[in-house]
Amino acid sequence: MKDTNNIFPVFDELLQREHKEQLLNQRAKVIWFTGLSGSGKTTLARELEKQLFGKGFLTQVLDGDNIRIGINNNLGFTDDDRTENIRRIAEVSKLLINSGVITINSFISPTDKIRNMAINIIGKDDFIEIFLSTPLAICEERDVKGLYKKARLGLIKNFTGIDAPFESPVNPDIQIDTSLISIDECVKIILDQILPKITF
Ligand code: ADX
Repeated sequence: MKDTNNIFPVFDELLQREHKEQLLNQRAKVIWFTGLSGSGKTTLARELEKQLFGKGFLTQVLDGDNIRIGINNNLGFTDDDRTENIRRIAEVSKLLINSGVITINSFISPTDKIRNMAINIIGKDDFIEIFLSTPLAICEERDVKGLYKKARLGLIKNFTGIDAPFESPVNPDIQIDTSLISIDECVKIILDQILPKITF
């Protein structure tokens, strides 16, 4: 940890989040998808963004695969690196919601410890947790990126669900198994829950 004694942030001189939310006519939240690779996080995040955009909301999607080739391209999949991955994402999300922007995050975020860190950085009131509980067997069968096959062959180490843990969230705001209902139905469930929270 660096010495921050000589750093003087000026938050109180900046325009407040509420002014920006009023400008955008929306209340900013972080909508956080957690679940195994292949559970449907990216698909639902994109579809949700499309539908919110259609209703006049300003959003930003942050997605594991994109973030990991940019701001987090120096991180791998050890526990420490995943923690740092999520710490940076949570800090970026906080900047976005302070600008009034609804942030839609799609990260495996596999453990209670990692998710609690994100909740602590963002603040519980601004954090909406959506757990995609699609079973491992279905995610593995989908294997959209071919990564489960590689993990089973030992070509990828520390793969979530295979040789790295995934702890199911205990009390998510929304839980959906995407193998049971259509994408449209999933998005409808999510919209029904979040619209009251992002509307004045
Ligand atoms: S997290 O655990 O740190 O939250 P994140 O969501 O950013 O993970 O990245 C997961 C994506 O990275 C997966 O969707 C997959 O495409 C890719 N990936 C590559 N290696 C691994 C691995 N060992 N475990 C999980 N995902 C991996």
